[in-house]
Amino acid sequence: MVFTIRKLLALTLAFATWVGAIEQVALKQSERPNIVFILTDDQDLHMDSLDYMPLLKKHIIDHGTFYKSHYCSTAICCPSRVTLWTGRNAHNTNVTDVFPPYGGYPKFVAQGFNEDWLPLWLQDAGYSTYYTGKLFNSHTVENWNSPHPSGWTSSDFLLDPYTYSYLNATFQRNEHPPVSHEGEYSTDVLAGKALTDEIVSYNDEFYRARLQSLQAVDELVEGVISRLDGYGILDNTYVIYTTDNGYHISQHRLAPGKECGFEEDINIPLVIRGPGVPIGEADIVSAHTDLAPTILKLAGGDYKKPDLDGSPIPLNKKDITRAKIERQEHVNVEFWGRSLPEGIYKFSLDDGKIVAYGSNNTYKALRVVGKEYNIYYSVWCTNEHELYDLTADPHQINNIHPSISSSSELPKIFRLPPSKVLPRLDALLMVTKSCRGATCVDPWSVLHPRGDIKTLADAMRVEFDDFYASTAEKVSFDKCELGYILESEGPQALVNFDEWKEEDL
Ligand SMILES: *[C@@H]1O[C@H](CO)[C@@H](O)[C@H](O)[C@H]1NC(C)=O
Ligand SMILES: *[C@@H]1O[C@H](CO)[C@@H](O)[C@H](O)[C@H]1NC(C)=O
Ligand SMILES: *[C@@H]1O[C@H](CO)[C@@H](O)[C@H](O)[C@H]1NC(C)=O
Repeated sequence: MVFTIRKLLALTLAFATWVGAIEQVALKQSERPNIVFILTDDQDLHMDSLDYMPLLKKHIIDHGTFYKSHYCSTAICCPSRVTLWTGRNAHNTNVTDVFPPYGGYPKFVAQGFNEDWLPLWLQDAGYSTYYTGKLFNSHTVENWNSPHPSGWTSSDFLLDPYTYSYLNATFQRNEHPPVSHEGEYSTDVLAGKALTDEIVSYNDEFYRARLQSLQAVDELVEGVISRLDGYGILDNTYVIYTTDNGYHISQHRLAPGKECGFEEDINIPLVIRGPGVPIGEADIVSAHTDLAPTILKLAGGDYKKPDLDGSPIPLNKKDITRAKIERQEHVNVEFWGRSLPEGIYKFSLDDGKIVAYGSNNTYKALRVVGKEYNIYYSVWCTNEHELYDLTADPHQINNIHPSISSSSELPKIFRLPPSKVLPRLDALLMVTKSCRGATCVDPWSVLHPRGDIKTLADAMRVEFDDFYASTAEKVSFDKCELGYILESEGPQALVNFDEWKEEDL
């Protein structure tokens, strides 16, 4: 009898608090892999946080592929985590906030996902699952059992409102009532040291404290690897390291926080090691919607379920090479609600006003990363627009949307004026903002049903100029809402190229 250990272990780490995992032990002759998923809270890629995790480098980066163009589609915890565990964009989960009514664990349950998400699919595929750490916001000492999160063979959840009480974490194991660990869960993370009156030096300290808190995560990575090694199953285990959303401190003159569509907030770490995963870096576009299909595929599950908004991330040399040519170049980015400035200084608006929450932070956006272009386009609920050419302007300082830029000579995006590129981007955003399943993976096929257009470059052909001029910039909002209120989200109907041509004749 061959004994194979097959597990998915997910660890979520809320900075020095660690959470989340899936585990199992099963006996089967087939060598299906184990899957360990480590998820941090709010980890940036753009302020070099990974440089301060030598053990992550030693055990995962140096043994696997670093996906440099990986994105979260909604830059805040709960919506991002629900996307990750359901494989659907937030506009298809309608979990768009961290608190009810628009988000949090109760909204996740109300939307029916507690009966239809990755841990259950993995159990259907024959896996045992184990989770420890923070699952979702608003998963609390009050509602932990109404209902209990489904799909986990075993679990140990960190519950609100004590999720960030580093000296008083409250854990809830399997079906047992919550237990508080007063005084046990000490980290040196939030020791209130060296605060100065200067915001910049405060933010520097904030930055350092984040890196210090990450040291515990880094050591956890080593602990996981050496345990897997000790069990003799490391060679048949995939270890996936990522975070729920990115983070900014001072960039774009913003107080510490996330919730924006800037690279700092959405382009996040993803590193995977495992059987057949090459060592190196991959510059292919992937997003959190792709992780559920990726894990399902590894587990031999149904990764082509029609409601999954992503596709498996290639994990071997051949598939990565092919993906460089064939894989999608867009990421759907979306956000609802407010922005929450973190730290002590809160949000300092231009008028110097301190506010607890930034309002009107609802937007739809697109990242498009092609061979000849690197673009971010967003439409806010106030109908303000942003357009950044990241090739020329990698830090997104210069908004070249015609409504903003007073210059008569607008910078060109891959040698064309924004007036040609924008209608295409807007039409693509029209599709991605409400796409579902396959249309999220291949949104161009909605605009060009014949399937001949796969990229922005393809869509730039002159023969489509009139069509795109006719669709021009439809993405708009009627109102700023705190959640996904369809009636406030402007036009929804789309005309494709073939229909438009027929009307034209
Ligand atoms: C610690 O958490 C428990 C709930 O798990 C709570 O009852 C208790 O008041 C907390 N202690 C402190 C000092 O906040
Ligand atoms: C928020 O947006 C609305 C338009 O939907 C506008 O009337 C209001 O002034 C904005 N509030 C702030 C604080 O910018
Ligand atoms: C999303 O959920 C909110 C809150 O329950 C609801 O008001 C809204 O209509 C939902 N949006 C969609 C598009 O179903």
